[in-house]
Amino acid sequence: MKSPPDILVVDDTLENLKILTDILKLENYKVRPALNGKLALSAVRQSAPDLILLDIRMPDIDGFKVCQILRDEPIYKSIPIIFISAADEVSDKVKAFSVGGNDYITKPFNEEEVKARVATHLKIKCYQDKMADMIAEALGEVNILNQEIIATQSELLYRLSEVCETKSLETGLHVKRVSEFSYLFARYSGYCDPDEAELIKQAAPMHDIGKIGIPDNILMKQGKLNSDEWGVMKTHPTIGYTILKGSTRTLIALAAMIAYEHHEKWDGSGYPMQKQGEAISVAGRVVACADVLDALFCKRCYKPAWEKEQVLEFFREQSGKHFDPKLVDVLFEHKQKFMEIKDRLQDQLYQS
Ligand code: C2E
Ligand code: SIN
Ligand code: SIN
Ligand code: SIN
Ligand code: FE
Ligand code: FE
Repeated sequence: MKSPPDILVVDDTLENLKILTDILKLENYKVRPALNGKLALSAVRQSAPDLILLDIRMPDIDGFKVCQILRDEPIYKSIPIIFISAADEVSDKVKAFSVGGNDYITKPFNEEEVKARVATHLKIKCYQDKMADMIAEALGEVNILNQEIIATQSELLYRLSEVCETKSLETGLHVKRVSEFSYLFARYSGYCDPDEAELIKQAAPMHDIGKIGIPDNILMKQGKLNSDEWGVMKTHPTIGYTILKGSTRTLIALAAMIAYEHHEKWDGSGYPMQKQGEAISVAGRVVACADVLDALFCKRCYKPAWEKEQVLEFFREQSGKHFDPKLVDVLFEHKQKFMEIKDRLQDQLYQS
């Protein structure tokens, strides 16, 4: 809203134009007169007024048409338009509102009525503008907050997985492969829609975060673990869950679940809870497959890398034992896509 408010008065009769202009100038408004529809439109385009008084009956472009043209343009949608007409005709009033007008005054003008209606509509416009500003500001703040939360979340997860990788000597590529394998398992099984699969993909890098709590001499031991060491190693899902649980963020909550369940097995012989079948979350089952798939392809400090045929044979043999059979089917049906990821995100750890 400009100060003083800027009012466009449109009438093809000079006399009317003068009467209205005089009334409004007395109220200290800035008044711009226009003698026909065309001039009115160019005046609006030059500078949007705060309110328009618009005669209905004019040659060429009449008042209804001017109103319709302005209402079709988003930036002019909220300018209050008060129609003026000689005839106190009901059909004109109806049409005035149906083309987007806000009010209607009839000639001959009652000075007090003109002032009152103009003042009222300017007040409403002022509130609307304020409201629009506040909403825009609030939305902007929410947006910034959301972006900050998302950025904080990603950075936190990235940093945690980095710490974890450094300790376990796995590379960022391992985490990336597990993520991308997880997406394929989640999508092609039909268990997840694209958004859910994407969320699992983003949470998957955290599955081994609990290895932070495993002593290096166990984590990096060359060769087989003894039973005490194995007992310690088997605590990493619970440690990971403890680190991540309690968050109300969808992503972290899902990451906590994945950390907890990624070593559960379909037949109930996994750890730490011996969950079985569908009692294990989809995300847990998916990442279990993705993690083992990548671990077998990779050289580890305790094992060489496996050949593709060995890996596939292992999955076939473990279908319904370690793995959800439906997910094993996905691996065989979309073998090529899994191999593409393995080849694209290759690192030295693959070489045995
Ligand atoms: P990881 O290296 O990321 O392996 C993840 C999972 O892949 C393993 O979970 C297992 O299910 C599968 N996997 C990896 N290598 C082999 C293999 O040679 N044979 C078979 N059949 N499966 C394999 P798992 O067994 O629960 O182990 C969890 C983590 O414990 C492993 O994560 C690794 O960090 C550690 N780990 C397991 N066994 C040994 C070991 O003998 N020595 C050492 N130093 N660490 C081990
Ligand atoms: C173990 O039982 O020691 C871990 C199994 C493996 O090495 O894959
Ligand atoms: C999902 O479908 O988004 C995973 C939910 C689950 O873990 O069960
Ligand atoms: C591990 O995953 O803990 C073994 C480290 C490696 O050789 O990749
Ligand atoms: Fe693990
Ligand atoms: Fe892993």
